[in-house]
Amino acid sequence: MDSAILESDVPLCSLTELEECQTIELSVEQRQLFAVRLDNQIHAYWNSCPHRGIPLNWMPNQFLDGDGALIQCTSHGALFEIDTGHCIAGPCHGDSLTPVTLHCESGQYYITAGQPLPPALVNLRAQALAELE
Ligand code: FES
Repeated sequence: MDSAILESDVPLCSLTELEECQTIELSVEQRQLFAVRLDNQIHAYWNSCPHRGIPLNWMPNQFLDGDGALIQCTSHGALFEIDTGHCIAGPCHGDSLTPVTLHCESGQYYITAGQPLPPALVNLRAQALAELE
Protein backbone atom coordinates (compact mmCIF):
# COMPACT_ATOMS: atom_id res chain seq x y z
CA MET A 1 0.00 0.00 0.00
CA ASP A 2 1.20 3.49 -0.90
CA SER A 3 1.33 5.67 2.21
CA ALA A 4 3.39 8.60 0.95
CA ILE A 5 3.06 11.93 2.71
CA LEU A 6 3.65 15.35 1.17
CA GLU A 7 6.76 16.50 2.99
CA SER A 8 6.71 20.24 2.31
CA ASP A 9 4.27 22.93 1.21
CA VAL A 10 3.95 23.34 -2.56
CA PRO A 11 2.91 26.69 -4.08
CA LEU A 12 -0.33 26.36 -6.06
CA CYS A 13 -1.28 29.82 -7.30
CA SER A 14 -2.51 33.14 -6.06
CA LEU A 15 -6.20 33.93 -5.97
CA THR A 16 -5.76 36.65 -8.58
CA GLU A 17 -4.22 34.23 -11.10
CA LEU A 18 -7.59 32.54 -11.59
CA GLU A 19 -10.82 34.00 -12.85
CA GLU A 20 -14.04 32.90 -11.21
CA CYS A 21 -14.75 29.26 -12.23
CA GLN A 22 -11.36 28.93 -13.94
CA THR A 23 -9.39 25.74 -13.34
CA ILE A 24 -5.72 24.81 -13.32
CA GLU A 25 -4.01 21.47 -13.02
CA LEU A 26 -0.57 20.42 -11.92
CA SER A 27 1.45 17.45 -10.78
CA VAL A 28 2.90 17.02 -7.31
CA GLU A 29 5.10 14.05 -6.50
CA GLN A 30 3.82 12.32 -9.68
CA ARG A 31 0.20 12.81 -8.62
CA GLN A 32 -2.20 14.98 -10.58
CA LEU A 33 -4.49 17.52 -9.02
CA PHE A 34 -6.64 20.39 -10.16
CA ALA A 35 -8.00 23.54 -8.57
CA VAL A 36 -11.03 25.71 -9.23
CA ARG A 37 -11.78 29.25 -8.09
CA LEU A 38 -15.35 29.68 -6.81
CA ASP A 39 -16.70 32.61 -4.77
CA ASN A 40 -13.20 33.96 -4.17
CA GLN A 41 -11.92 30.70 -2.75
CA ILE A 42 -9.82 28.00 -4.36
CA HIS A 43 -10.90 24.37 -4.06
CA ALA A 44 -8.54 21.57 -5.08
CA TYR A 45 -8.98 17.84 -5.66
CA TRP A 46 -6.77 14.95 -6.69
CA ASN A 47 -7.50 14.26 -10.34
CA SER A 48 -9.05 10.83 -9.95
CA CYS A 49 -12.70 10.03 -10.61
CA PRO A 50 -14.28 7.87 -7.89
CA HIS A 51 -16.00 5.84 -10.61
CA ARG A 52 -12.93 4.30 -12.24
CA GLY A 53 -9.96 5.97 -10.58
CA ILE A 54 -8.86 7.66 -13.80
CA PRO A 55 -8.27 11.37 -14.50
CA LEU A 56 -11.44 13.40 -14.96
CA ASN A 57 -10.24 15.42 -17.95
CA TRP A 58 -9.06 14.65 -21.45
CA MET A 59 -8.05 18.21 -22.32
CA PRO A 60 -5.63 20.32 -20.25
CA ASN A 61 -7.37 22.45 -17.60
CA GLN A 62 -10.85 21.33 -18.72
CA PHE A 63 -12.77 20.16 -15.66
CA LEU A 64 -16.12 21.96 -15.69
CA ASP A 65 -19.42 21.29 -17.42
CA GLY A 66 -20.77 23.52 -20.17
CA ASP A 67 -22.26 26.00 -17.73
CA GLY A 68 -19.08 26.17 -15.64
CA ALA A 69 -21.17 25.38 -12.58
CA LEU A 70 -20.05 21.82 -11.81
CA ILE A 71 -16.98 19.64 -12.18
CA GLN A 72 -17.62 17.03 -14.86
CA CYS A 73 -15.79 13.80 -15.55
CA THR A 74 -15.18 13.47 -19.26
CA SER A 75 -15.38 9.68 -19.39
CA HIS A 76 -18.95 9.00 -18.23
CA GLY A 77 -20.27 12.42 -17.32
CA ALA A 78 -20.33 12.31 -13.51
CA LEU A 79 -21.05 15.76 -12.04
CA PHE A 80 -19.49 17.07 -8.82
CA GLU A 81 -20.10 20.19 -6.74
CA ILE A 82 -17.14 22.55 -7.00
CA ASP A 83 -17.06 23.50 -3.32
CA THR A 84 -17.54 20.02 -1.82
CA GLY A 85 -16.43 17.56 -4.52
CA HIS A 86 -19.64 15.63 -3.86
CA CYS A 87 -20.99 13.70 -6.86
CA ILE A 88 -24.61 14.67 -7.54
CA ALA A 89 -25.17 12.75 -10.78
CA GLY A 90 -23.62 9.93 -12.77
CA PRO A 91 -22.26 6.45 -12.12
CA CYS A 92 -20.56 7.42 -8.83
CA HIS A 93 -23.52 9.38 -7.45
CA GLY A 94 -23.04 9.89 -3.70
CA ASP A 95 -19.26 9.46 -3.81
CA SER A 96 -16.84 12.38 -3.61
CA LEU A 97 -13.63 13.59 -5.12
CA THR A 98 -10.70 13.50 -2.71
CA PRO A 99 -9.90 17.03 -1.58
CA VAL A 100 -6.40 18.44 -1.53
CA THR A 101 -5.73 20.41 1.65
CA LEU A 102 -4.71 23.99 0.90
CA HIS A 103 -3.82 27.00 2.97
CA CYS A 104 -3.57 30.63 2.01
CA GLU A 105 -0.94 33.16 3.04
CA SER A 106 -1.37 36.73 1.80
CA GLY A 107 -3.43 35.60 -1.18
CA GLN A 108 -1.01 32.84 -2.20
CA TYR A 109 -2.39 29.32 -1.98
CA TYR A 110 -0.18 26.39 -1.01
CA ILE A 111 -0.74 22.65 -1.01
CA THR A 112 -0.30 21.84 2.66
CA ALA A 113 2.55 19.63 3.82
CA GLY A 114 1.79 16.57 5.93
CA GLN A 115 -1.24 15.32 4.01
CA PRO A 116 -1.35 11.82 2.57
CA LEU A 117 -0.72 11.46 -1.15
CA PRO A 118 -2.97 9.19 -3.22
CA PRO A 119 -1.36 6.28 -5.04
CA ALA A 120 0.66 7.43 -8.04
CA LEU A 121 -1.06 6.82 -11.36
CA VAL A 122 -0.02 3.62 -13.05
CA ASN A 123 1.59 4.07 -16.45
CA LEU A 124 -0.24 1.21 -18.19
CA ARG A 125 1.81 1.53 -21.39
CA ALA A 126 5.13 1.30 -19.54
CA GLN A 127 3.78 -1.58 -17.46
CA ALA A 128 2.66 -3.47 -20.57
CA LEU A 129 6.01 -2.93 -22.28
CA ALA A 130 7.85 -4.14 -19.18
CA GLU A 131 5.77 -7.32 -19.14
CA LEU A 132 6.72 -8.04 -22.76
CA GLU A 133 10.42 -7.97 -21.95
S1 FES B 1 -14.58 7.50 -14.91
FE1 FES B 1 -15.56 9.33 -14.23
S2 FES B 1 -17.68 8.98 -14.56
FE2 FES B 1 -16.70 7.15 -15.18
